[in-house]
Amino acid sequence: MRFAGKVAAVTGAARGLGETIARRLASEGASVVVADIDGAGAAAVATSIEADRGRALAFEMDVTDAAAARDMVNAAVEAFGSLDILVNNAAVFGATSHVLEIDGDAWDRTMQVNLKGPFLCSQAAIGQMREQSSGGSIVFVSSLSGVVAHEHQADYNASKHGVIGLARCIAQDCREWGIRSNVVAPTGMVGTEMMAANDPVNVAPYAAQTAFARLATTDEVASAALFLAGEEASFITGTTLMVDGGVHAMQPSARQLSEGAERFMSRPDQS
Ligand SMILES: NC(=O)c1ccc[n+]([C@@H]2O[C@H](COP(=O)([O-])OP(=O)(O)OC[C@H]3O[C@@H](n4cnc5c(N)ncnc54)[C@H](O)[C@@H]3O)[C@@H](O)[C@H]2O)c1
Repeated sequence: MRFAGKVAAVTGAARGLGETIARRLASEGASVVVADIDGAGAAAVATSIEADRGRALAFEMDVTDAAAARDMVNAAVEAFGSLDILVNNAAVFGATSHVLEIDGDAWDRTMQVNLKGPFLCSQAAIGQMREQSSGGSIVFVSSLSGVVAHEHQADYNASKHGVIGLARCIAQDCREWGIRSNVVAPTGMVGTEMMAANDPVNVAPYAAQTAFARLATTDEVASAALFLAGEEASFITGTTLMVDGGVHAMQPSARQLSEGAERFMSRPDQS
């Protein structure tokens, strides 16, 4: 029960990684605000957490709306008495087009959700954490795409690079209030809608780049997020924890790529 007595808000928690992080925080004692633009999905997750004897509050909100971000923080305080942890997880995948074909509106939308959203939610949370004078922890979900380039992902990758810069600047500006700010940067995760949209044949070469020829599970990424959120990481701030099976650190060999793709395709669940 690492998070007993703590209050956390997780954005984009109606499904995917955000849902796993919210469930894991609640199972370790935190009271959790399950925030998402999908109100029904958030309500279902909160109800299910409560059925498992956790404490949760569903909150429908758009992270791009500054007033909604403030309302989310106020809702946490009203329901549970404080806000100690914010996980900025909500994001959209972006235009998936060649850099020459991304129009300005699509670029703006990706930046609004993926970069301005975490900025607004953090601003609202920091105000509350500062008032509480007991510190706080902010965890941003970036991506492998936050440290390397991927084909036809200029808007998404630029937003995820930006998230790392934002997290570092918050770590710097808020250090005197005992607020830590860190990033978890996963590679592709099995069982998420972002990945389910892809044909396994196209995912295989990608999985083959990892040391283990597979994708991450949302639990593996949530474990890293919970570590950064909690007291075990009390001397860690401004850092980016890669949960990418080593991809950013290693140059794959031709043998690794071909054998890894075969191994990936041979597993029935393609995990
Ligand atoms: N899925 C992957 O393979 C992968 C890989 C690397 C990084 N990531 C990152 O992990 C995080 C979670 O990814 P996922 O795969 O679980 O995504 P997902 O698409 O399954 O879930 C995203 C959630 O965010 C919510 N959301 C979207 N826009 C919102 C808004 N404006 N306001 C509030 N909520 C909003 C959605 O309703 C959804 O519930 C994201 O930051 C993503 O960039 C994902």
